[in-house]
Amino acid sequence: MSDLYDEVTSFKDALRVTAEAVEDQLLDLMADPDGPEAYVWEAMRYAVKGGKRLRAFLAMQSGHLFDVDEEAMLRVAAAVECIHAYSLVHDDLPSMDDDTLRRGRPTTHVEFGEATAVLAGDALQSLAFDILADHDTHGDPYIRCDLVSRLAQAIGGHGMVGGQMIDLEAESQELDIGAVIRLHRLKTGALIAFACQSGAIMGRASRDARHALDAFAHDLGLAFQVVDDLLDISGDAETIGKTPGKDEARGKATFVSILGAARARDQAELLANQAKRHLDLFDEKADFLRDVCSYVTERKN
Ligand code: IPE
Ligand code: IPE
Ligand code: MG
Ligand code: MG
Ligand code: MG
Repeated sequence: MSDLYDEVTSFKDALRVTAEAVEDQLLDLMADPDGPEAYVWEAMRYAVKGGKRLRAFLAMQSGHLFDVDEEAMLRVAAAVECIHAYSLVHDDLPSMDDDTLRRGRPTTHVEFGEATAVLAGDALQSLAFDILADHDTHGDPYIRCDLVSRLAQAIGGHGMVGGQMIDLEAESQELDIGAVIRLHRLKTGALIAFACQSGAIMGRASRDARHALDAFAHDLGLAFQVVDDLLDISGDAETIGKTPGKDEARGKATFVSILGAARARDQAELLANQAKRHLDLFDEKADFLRDVCSYVTERKN
């Protein structure tokens, strides 16, 4: 077992160490093939590069709670980041949010063309399931199947994709706050919840522990998307690495469009505090997860 967090004392270092380890893992899993299809792999590697790696961090910390082997957990974290990267590539397409800047660089379709970006997103999704279904992720096929099936549910039509559909439809419709909460839970919360659950699945955690992590993820994921909406109105392109002001320009239904910035900020803080309380049954092994709650509301990108 590797000991990624042995020398780590601060949350900032834990996030950095995780991001580096996941980046290495992703590059290992995405070796450059020969032949004409190499271009899509180039686009895939481009798409997964960078980012805060919050979902990977949540997966790693969830595994840490239940003493899951870190190398195996890094594979799960990499799979989650593949899904996240795929979702961003497709989210940025001209037919969706039509964004040209992501993680401080041109979006994948701007760099590689729209058709290649669609394919890169598709292949990142397949790669994620391929990683989870592999024997190296877990020796027990039941656990691998559980990971695959829960991820599929989290990101499909009843999860992330369903949320993206509502998000697009809401450009031409008024949503109330309850509908926006549901939208956020699906489009962003479901994958975050899978990341938080993944270590519990890998480590065969108790039902109580799983429930607590689910409740934690529920509030954290919502707080995270509310802050994303706030950064869209208050951030600058250099800091957030994306073009600000897009939500209002496209008529998106967000917490900010419904509640205004001040109340949206209050809600994010309330949710983050609530998320932290759901971790009360865990010992100090959950401290970095506790720190994530303040990080999510204080973040500038
Ligand atoms: C952006 O996610 C998309 C949302 C679901 C809000 P992140 O803010 O985690 O993006 P990266 O991975 O750090 O670029
Ligand atoms: C993206 O939400 C959610 C998914 C990609 C599933 P946003 O559209 O708000 O994300 P950003 O602001 O472009 O990063
Ligand atoms: Mg979007
Ligand atoms: Mg977007
Ligand atoms: Mg956004």
